[in-house]
Amino acid sequence: MIVAIMAPRSGKTSGLAIPAILSAPGPVLLTSNKAANDAFTTTVDARTEVGTIWTLDPQQIAHHPREMWWDILADARDLAGAKRLAGHFVAASVDESSGSDFWSTAASNTLGALFLAAASHRRPITDVLAWLATPADRTPVDLLTDAGHDAVAAQLQGTVSGATETRDGIFETARQYASCLLDSDVAAWVTPNEDLPEFKPFAFATSRDTLYLLSKDGGGSASAIIAAAADAVMRAAVIVAERSGGRLDPPALCVLDEAANVCRISDLPDLYSHLGSRGVIPMTILQSYRQGQRCWGEAGMDALYSAATIKIIGSGIDDADFADRLSRQVGDHDVQTTSVSSSEGGKSTSVSMRTERILPPDAIRALPKGKVLLLATGIRVAMLNLKPWYKEPSAKVVAPASARATKAITERARAKNIGHDDFGLSA
Ligand SMILES: Nc1ncnc2c1ncn2[C@@H]1O[C@H](COP(=O)(O)OP(=O)(O)OP(=O)(O)O)[C@@H](O)[C@H]1O
Ligand SMILES: [Mg+2]
Repeated sequence: MIVAIMAPRSGKTSGLAIPAILSAPGPVLLTSNKAANDAFTTTVDARTEVGTIWTLDPQQIAHHPREMWWDILADARDLAGAKRLAGHFVAASVDESSGSDFWSTAASNTLGALFLAAASHRRPITDVLAWLATPADRTPVDLLTDAGHDAVAAQLQGTVSGATETRDGIFETARQYASCLLDSDVAAWVTPNEDLPEFKPFAFATSRDTLYLLSKDGGGSASAIIAAAADAVMRAAVIVAERSGGRLDPPALCVLDEAANVCRISDLPDLYSHLGSRGVIPMTILQSYRQGQRCWGEAGMDALYSAATIKIIGSGIDDADFADRLSRQVGDHDVQTTSVSSSEGGKSTSVSMRTERILPPDAIRALPKGKVLLLATGIRVAMLNLKPWYKEPSAKVVAPASARATKAITERARAKNIGHDDFGLSA
């Protein structure tokens, strides 16, 4: 279980994510906010040779045509799953610190109730949007009662028939959280479609397929969908592993590149402890320790960091406390100092031993690009040179493939613009 913390442009994708994907023996999941000349284009060709490629690109980062759908409500048929799904929408919109105020909590509960109402009757997610738009609509309450979720129905009824300002405030907050689904082009990726193949997390766990999850950053983006899909895949993989002797073989690799931007799974720290020994290998890639704290809170980030059996720390660590903590973990060594003093009786030399940090905090902050510290359970801290994919012999094949895939993205983007011209939408 891996956590990597490295500054922007320091080789996270080229030195960690891509080499891991290119050498993965089993299924691979990648989250990312970039397509051209990044992990998607660099690995898509090689992965096509081992299995099916599933690209979930609701915001058209790679301008990828919609050739699949995934049922976002599949895991929301029980209350826990519905709440988790609502949590992904909250986490994608607000930081951990403001995710627990009254409005957020109430909106999250309401969203969870609506997801449960839709999922338990196999209604599409677009129904949830319709109910959010008209809080007075009794349909979701009736559906919940029908499905035997009486307590949830009563709670939703309480919200709906409460003071109008409060109700509207809660619904408005919930609408903001779910706003990415208002775009029908986005919602279509997670709505059942008979004409397209369905991505099934359980089948994926035992395949050698690749799932690319692409989204823009931040609130209003489709990152909640990305987080929900990654969460569903990892949970399904754990269940499949438990059913088949405890461990997936070959293991599933889940690269959460740009995790704090596009894949804010709020209980990722907990999930990490379930993934251990199940043959599901998560690689969470962050830009700084602080970025993780904003996303999962201080306690959450500490839990994630401690649960990771392999920690990789690269250049650009700006956080003085974190650098100091690492420096202490690297440890001390004895340094011999010789001092010479001269007096009337002649010169005298004295040798003394002094304890010094092996790697002081300022040296950690100044780690050059390409060098990383490896903190793995049971060994002393090691310093490694990353081996980015473009310096490997296989780059002879991979680089042209990446260039072709990047060119294809550009062409798809251009083709769309021509379409716009045809409709007179641009000059
Ligand atoms: N194909 C390549 N050939 C040569 N150098 C490259 C190549 N790809 C990346 N690099 C170098 O590696 C650096 C880091 O790239 P990379 O995308 O891996 O960083 P990153 O940490 O993932 O960045 P970001 O935070 O933007 O995602 C780039 O600035 C560039 O100098
Ligand atoms: Mg990157």
